[in-house]
Amino acid sequence: MAGFVVVGSQWGDEGKGKIVDVLGSKMDYVVRFQGGNNAGHTVIVNGEKTVLHLLPSGILSDNATCIIGPGVVIDPFVLLKEIDALEKRGLSTQHLKISDRAHLIMPYHIKLDELHEQKLAQNKIGTTKRGIGPCYADKYTRIGFRICDLKDFEYFKEKLKQTLAFKNDQIVKLYNGEPFDYDTLIEQFAKIKEALLPRIIDSVKVVNDALKENKNILFEGAQAYMLDINYGSYPYVTSSSPTSAGVCSGAGVNPKALDCIIGVVKAYSTRVGEGPFVTELFDEFAEKIRSVGHEFGSTTGRPRRCGWLDLCVVKQACLLNGLTDLVITKIDVLTGIDTLPVCIGYEIDGAITTSIPASLNDLAQAKPVYKYFDGWKEDICHIRDFKELPENCKTYLKFIEEFTETRISLVSVGPDRENNIIIHDLV
Ligand code: GDP
Ligand code: IMO
Ligand code: MG
Repeated sequence: MAGFVVVGSQWGDEGKGKIVDVLGSKMDYVVRFQGGNNAGHTVIVNGEKTVLHLLPSGILSDNATCIIGPGVVIDPFVLLKEIDALEKRGLSTQHLKISDRAHLIMPYHIKLDELHEQKLAQNKIGTTKRGIGPCYADKYTRIGFRICDLKDFEYFKEKLKQTLAFKNDQIVKLYNGEPFDYDTLIEQFAKIKEALLPRIIDSVKVVNDALKENKNILFEGAQAYMLDINYGSYPYVTSSSPTSAGVCSGAGVNPKALDCIIGVVKAYSTRVGEGPFVTELFDEFAEKIRSVGHEFGSTTGRPRRCGWLDLCVVKQACLLNGLTDLVITKIDVLTGIDTLPVCIGYEIDGAITTSIPASLNDLAQAKPVYKYFDGWKEDICHIRDFKELPENCKTYLKFIEEFTETRISLVSVGPDRENNIIIHDLV
């Protein structure tokens, strides 16, 4: 069996999409296991850019069957648009399948996400307003809709009648919003059902059969460790488990299926939305990193907050995910910066720790303890051999390995599929 996991080790947008695409050609299956279209995964092949939100990033490799797994929440309108956009470019999506257990993001989830954020005002989470939180909330309240419910449309219609009455009450009475019309929704979902039906599968059986046959399966995470509902900077998190633990529940496999667990680490830090960010920069370096690294959200277009590399976060991500390998991305963006601070501890109330505190107040007041590294000036995008990197760049990378006690297997030096330095073969 060969189960590969790709997860984000910081606050998301580390370049997971690129890495899944790079490994995709060697995979038989690529399975998304959590999140929804809050994700924005950018893949660049021969200069051509594709931004994926719900489709697994293996979709551009013809050999890999791509599955939207049971733990994902699906906005069917967005999914159909994404499929259509690829098909219009002449790219096949025949190899895309959808788990019968995945939940549906309903139009009222999106509305409730918006209205709730509005109500929170200055305390807002800064969500992507894609209905993610309200959809997962309904899943756990046990009033959610699953993809398999579309198959039994009479049941779907009946259930929607009851649920919509409840949701419209919330929208109108609590938030003074506009109610949704039942007949319009039924009409829309009748079409969605027809479009999605041919792709619906029992993914648990398919994936476990494939594991038995020794196929290569890559489990693709969205978001990242610091956005994890249990271990991130709660409440400034997403509503799912983007860690390797989430693979088992979200893809329907047991822990023995996870052989190689790859954490993607950006060479610096970024965060979108609200919440504490210990190494955040507000000076010209933030501007430089944002402009050189094109740090603008692929889903919402918001400027990403930028900061120095926080190894307390990465070390904790190694621990909680059981990372076997690191992939460092965007190291090329740091070229030309004279001194590179790296956070190796937090000072909280005069004491130094490397643990991420649970309390938001502690995290918000933590002061970074930095170790300083000399930068490099040479362009490194064309380099394909670790030995050829500037000495200072090698020192920076080796320190990441040493501090996290996890080996770096790949260094990404540019956004294209080809811009990689392979140190250890992952597959
Ligand atoms: P994801 O959400 O983790 O898949 O990451 P995003 O796609 O949202 O953001 C990563 C961005 O960095 C994308 O625009 C990628 O094209 C780009 N990228 C990925 N790896 C590299 C790299 O090594 N160097 C540079 N300069 N850009 C990269
Ligand atoms: P990828 O997969 C970066 C952030 C939002 C917000 C918080 C909660 O591209 O790395 P949500 O809409 O999930 O309820 O928002 O999580 N967030 C992301 N930040 N990358 C992502 O995905 C994100 N998905 C959600 O900005 O702070
Ligand atoms: Mg992203």
